[in-house]
Amino acid sequence: MNVAAGFLGGAKSRLLPRSIPFRFFASAAAFHVLMWLALLLGAEDAVGFRGGLGPALTSVHLLTLGVLTTTAIGASVQLLPVATRRTLHAVWPIRLTFWLIVPGLIALTVGMHLAQPSILVPAAVATAAGLFLFGVLLADNLRRAGSLGVVGAYGWAALAMLILTIALGVTLSINEETGFLPDHAAVALTHLILGGFGFMGLLALGFSHVLIPMFALASAPPKRPSYAGFGAAAAAVVLGTLGALADSRSLLTIALFTGLAAAATHLWLMHRVLRAGMRKRLGLSFILVRAGWAMLPATLLAGLAALYGLAGGNGGTLFGFLLLFGWLLTFLVAILQRIMPFLASMFAGSGAPIVSEFANARSLRLHAACHGLAVATLAVAILRDDATMARLGSAIGLVGAIAFAWFTAEVIRRILPDS
Ligand code: HEM
Repeated sequence: MNVAAGFLGGAKSRLLPRSIPFRFFASAAAFHVLMWLALLLGAEDAVGFRGGLGPALTSVHLLTLGVLTTTAIGASVQLLPVATRRTLHAVWPIRLTFWLIVPGLIALTVGMHLAQPSILVPAAVATAAGLFLFGVLLADNLRRAGSLGVVGAYGWAALAMLILTIALGVTLSINEETGFLPDHAAVALTHLILGGFGFMGLLALGFSHVLIPMFALASAPPKRPSYAGFGAAAAAVVLGTLGALADSRSLLTIALFTGLAAAATHLWLMHRVLRAGMRKRLGLSFILVRAGWAMLPATLLAGLAALYGLAGGNGGTLFGFLLLFGWLLTFLVAILQRIMPFLASMFAGSGAPIVSEFANARSLRLHAACHGLAVATLAVAILRDDATMARLGSAIGLVGAIAFAWFTAEVIRRILPDS
C-alpha cells in the first residue's frame, strides 16, 4: 500500500481547526516578504556577512524563525497527528506557541536590526519559550506515536537540535550585552550548524520520507538504507557541532564529508521513490524540490571550499547563504505550495478542485522564476563582494515573495467560512 493511501485513511477526523495550521503558513508568507525587504535594505551588510547584530542578522532570523520554523510548526502540528493517527491532546498549547513565537520573533528581529540588547534579550526569551512549548508538543506526539520508524528517529533528533539551537541563541543574545563567552564566533557557528543542519535540516529530511512518497504515490523508501542515511546525517551534525565549538578544521572536514555521504544516500532514496511512484507528472513544485535537493551537496562543497580558503573572501557567507536560501528555503516553499492546497481541499470537503486549480498558478510560476534568479544573483554577488548586484537579487526575491504571498492569500480565501 503506498504512503498516500495509509496517510489519508481517516485523516479528516484528525484535522485541526483550519486557522491553526494556516495561521503559521500565513505568517511564513508574510515574513518571507519582510525577509527579502530587509535583505534589500541591508544588502551592503549582507554580501560579506560573518555575524554580528544588524540588518543581515535580521534577515537571517526573519528567514530561519519567520519562514522556516513557522512553516515547520504549521506542517508538523497538522501532518504528524495524521501520520501518527494520534490526535493532539488539546489545541490551546498550539495557539499559545503561536502567540509566543510570532510576536517574540518580531521583537527579536527589531532588537537585532537596532542592535539593542535591551530588546533582544527579553525577545529571545519569549521566542525560546514558544519554541520550547512546540518542542514539548512534538515530543508528546512522537512519544504516543509508537513506531514511526526512521521518520520518528529524524523527529527526535531534530527536536534535540532545536533545544540546543534555542539555548545557544539565548546565550548569544545575552552575550551581546555581557560578553562573557570566550569565543562568540565559535558559538555563533555552532548555533548555525545546529539550527540549519540539525533542527531544520533533519526535519526536512525526515518529513521527505513521508511527503515525497505521498505526493508521488509511491511506497516509503527501504528501511536499512533509510536508517544508514539518518545515522550519517545525525553524525555529520554532531561532528560539525564539535568541530565548530573546538574550532577544529579537521573535525569540520570530517563532518562535511559525512554530510556528503548522508546527502548522497538521501538523494538516491528520493530518486528511487520518484522513479517507482505512480504519479510521474509532479508539476512546478517538484522543479523547486529538485533544485533544493541539488543545493544540499552544493552547500557542503561550498563549506569545504570555504574551510580551505578556496571560495574567496566571502566563502563563509556563501556557505551560510546556500544552506538557508539555496537548500532550506527552496525546499520548504516547494513543499508549502503542495501542502497548503492539499490541506485546503481537505477542509473545503471532497470535490473542491483546489489542488488542481493551483497546481500551475501564475503566482507560483512568477515566484519560482524570481526565486531561482534571486538565489543565483545573490550567490554571484557574494562571490564578487558586489552590494549593487546583491540589491538587485534581493529586489527580484522580493517580487517572488509577494507573488507567493498572493498565492497563499488565494488558497486561504478558499477555506474562509462561507467562501
Ligand atoms: C530563540 C531563538 C533564537 C535566538 C534568540 C537566536 C539568536 C541569535 C543571535 C544573537 C545571533 C548572533 C550571533 C552573532 O553575533 O553573530 C544568531 C545568529 C544566527 N542564528 Fe539565531 N537565534 C535563534 C534561532 C535560530 C534558529 C532556529 C536558526 C536556524 C534555523 C538560527 C540561525 C542563525 C544563524 C544562521 C546565525 C548566524 C550565525 C553567524 O553569525 O555565523 N537562529 N542567532
